[in-house]
Amino acid sequence: MVFVVVPALTRAEPAVRAWMLRNVFPRIFRLASVLIAMTWVGGAGLYLSMNRWRIDPGALFGTRWGRSILVGGTLGLLLGLFHFFVEDRLENAAVRAGDDPALDEGLVRRLRVIPRVGLGVLVVVIGSMMYAARGL
Ligand code: HEM
Repeated sequence: MVFVVVPALTRAEPAVRAWMLRNVFPRIFRLASVLIAMTWVGGAGLYLSMNRWRIDPGALFGTRWGRSILVGGTLGLLLGLFHFFVEDRLENAAVRAGDDPALDEGLVRRLRVIPRVGLGVLVVVIGSMMYAARGL
């Protein structure tokens, strides 16, 4: 989104832009939904498998590993919830914008900002998870 799709969208002519908003964005949002669900299930499964299939508050709050997983996991959870509940509205706006070019500019601005913020949060999550697994 940040490096390929949105830059292409902002340079596209209105007709192409409308086509992209209607045809490319819904697919990317759906892909993101699947990837987020897989990350939640994978992360939770990995956590449980490493803690004898139970939530261990002592290890979660009392160790560097636990706190880092907690911070990264919570941010990952919030990012996913943002996608499902807030970005979902953005997707609908994107599809509507395909039929109404007047909506485009504000929408394109949001499409430029939101994925960048998301990428920033993702980098923090990855850093936090790596800190859990390896330390500095
Ligand atoms: C945006 C979401 C997430 C991203 C990008 C992410 C990324 C990562 C990465 C890159 C690692 C490997 C770290 C390394 O080997 O250096 C990792 C490990 C791990 N993640 Fe996540 N993760 C996410 C969400 C979650 C969630 C929701 C949980 C659930 C609690 C979770 C639990 C774990 C666990 C238990 C490990 C293993 C740590 C270890 O090997 O000691 N992750 N994650």
